[in-house]
Amino acid sequence: MLFKTKLSSLNILMKIYGFCVFSLCCFLIFNGVQVEAFKNHTLLLNVSQPYRTAYHFQPSKNWMNDPNGPMYYKGVYHFFYQFNPYGPLWGNISWAHAISHDLINWVHLDIALVPNEPYDINGCFSGSATILPNGEPAILYTGVDGNLHQLQNLAFPKNISDPLLNEWVKWSLNPILSPPDESNPFLYRDPSTGWMGPDGEWRVVIGTQIDHQGAAILYKSKDFQSWTMSPSPLQLSNITTFWECPDFYPVICNGKSGLDTSVISVQGKDIKHVLKASFNNQDYYIMGKYDPESDHYDVDADFMKSKGWLRYDYGRFYASKSFYDGDKKRRILWSWVCEGDTAPDAIEKGWSGLQTIPRSIQLSKNEDQLVQWPVKELEKLRTRKVHFKNKKLRGRSMIEISGITASQADVEITFRLSKHKHAEVLVPEVIDPQLLCTQKNASMGGKFGPFGLLVLASKDLTEHTAVFFRVFRTANSFRVIMCVDPSRSSSKPLIDKPIYGAFLALDPRHAKISLRTLIDHSIVESFGGEGLACITSRIYPVLAVGEQAHLFAFNNGTQSLSISSLSAWSMKKAQIV
Ligand code: FRU
Repeated sequence: MLFKTKLSSLNILMKIYGFCVFSLCCFLIFNGVQVEAFKNHTLLLNVSQPYRTAYHFQPSKNWMNDPNGPMYYKGVYHFFYQFNPYGPLWGNISWAHAISHDLINWVHLDIALVPNEPYDINGCFSGSATILPNGEPAILYTGVDGNLHQLQNLAFPKNISDPLLNEWVKWSLNPILSPPDESNPFLYRDPSTGWMGPDGEWRVVIGTQIDHQGAAILYKSKDFQSWTMSPSPLQLSNITTFWECPDFYPVICNGKSGLDTSVISVQGKDIKHVLKASFNNQDYYIMGKYDPESDHYDVDADFMKSKGWLRYDYGRFYASKSFYDGDKKRRILWSWVCEGDTAPDAIEKGWSGLQTIPRSIQLSKNEDQLVQWPVKELEKLRTRKVHFKNKKLRGRSMIEISGITASQADVEITFRLSKHKHAEVLVPEVIDPQLLCTQKNASMGGKFGPFGLLVLASKDLTEHTAVFFRVFRTANSFRVIMCVDPSRSSSKPLIDKPIYGAFLALDPRHAKISLRTLIDHSIVESFGGEGLACITSRIYPVLAVGEQAHLFAFNNGTQSLSISSLSAWSMKKAQIV
């Protein structure tokens, strides 16, 4: 009893303290006040926390996984995420909530949903937000009940005129959906954002497994509250198993702007629909033509069958979710980036999990894949800059890019090659890019490549991670592969250091090979060919930490090439409070 009372007075004190900090932060951030204490232009390295990031989204402590319900509401970006309020490992899964004006600086609010009802007592799992016709946002999420069965539930803001959407109320008629007979009750989750068809009815998809096949079940509703399952799923695939976190949205052909999830046609432009599913620890997507009258989705190719197995990111990237940003007319993609260290490491750090920098996504010029780019707002964090143009990079040479904080940086580099005919021949022509990068890792010299960046490198290169390209000749064309090789990134024991790879859909005879890499202490996000292929890695250096980290451009091939341009910036710390 005494303990309980003490706890509750402590709680009240903490709440008052929390409220004061929160009000101050809101005041500082939302009124654009420039206060010296929050203007940190220097590299802040906490010695006991070398792996905490400076400009990626993360809570102050504890476990975080999937992004949930991102939305733009009354001038404020809202971001929810799977969170364990009590520790750095997965458990007690709740929806934590943060708000922002620019997708980079954030204020954490109170937790929006906690598992406290019979229908979600074992966790408030992933879900999405949809803005209803009256302007009210609704959260649709999966609850896990006492039998570990997964059920779908609704929650609404307590006060829709509060742009911060501080409090959420679970609907009194929850659960609204239970697992149908054909799907496994333990594998039935993660409702998508809703979209409205020409008949005025809402649709959502839910991830599941039917007859051992991954599937997105389609539901329809007139009022977003009572739902009917469609006779056939939106899509299912016999070469995959259970799908988590399905996402379904339109993209415009031959244009840059994003589309609201409910858009079904745009005057004078074609539209394609993207279906993303999370399985095998990867986020795969397919594209096709969706007929909103019949709800038939005619896909270009099945999952893992289409050209190059379309994936958002060929590295560490899972359970992503997109949303339409009506303010800037773009579609934004978020993803969870899990740790590559161990559970005892998470306990020692006190936290686990990051989110990628939000990325804008659009269809590529030849309309057969998506391209991604970090949101423009990130560039506000760029500070000290080094820049040069037209520098020769001889075979088997490297140059240091000094003058910036190499552990907290944004780097853009473009390479120019000539005499392509000297490229090595790729036999056989199509192979798994990850395997190719593993067989021909960064230390294996070739002709055109490996060339690229060595990031989070110690001065003597004992530690480094190589982000690089190789160019190959095939029977009648060329292939460019992009790889990330962290095999020498850390001497820390038990770190997962897979080599990743992706083919870049460009012809090096006509296009320069470009790379943008975001380096933030323990995360490296790379965008090849202006976003045609992305690879995210987690890196845990022991020597290349903080000011001891170095950055190099390297060419370990025999052919010389030139860096047509390089710009690299130190990055300021984002305000995440
Ligand atoms: C994906 C996932 C989701 C689930 C959530 C639970 O990472 O397994 O399917 O809703 O995490 O935290």
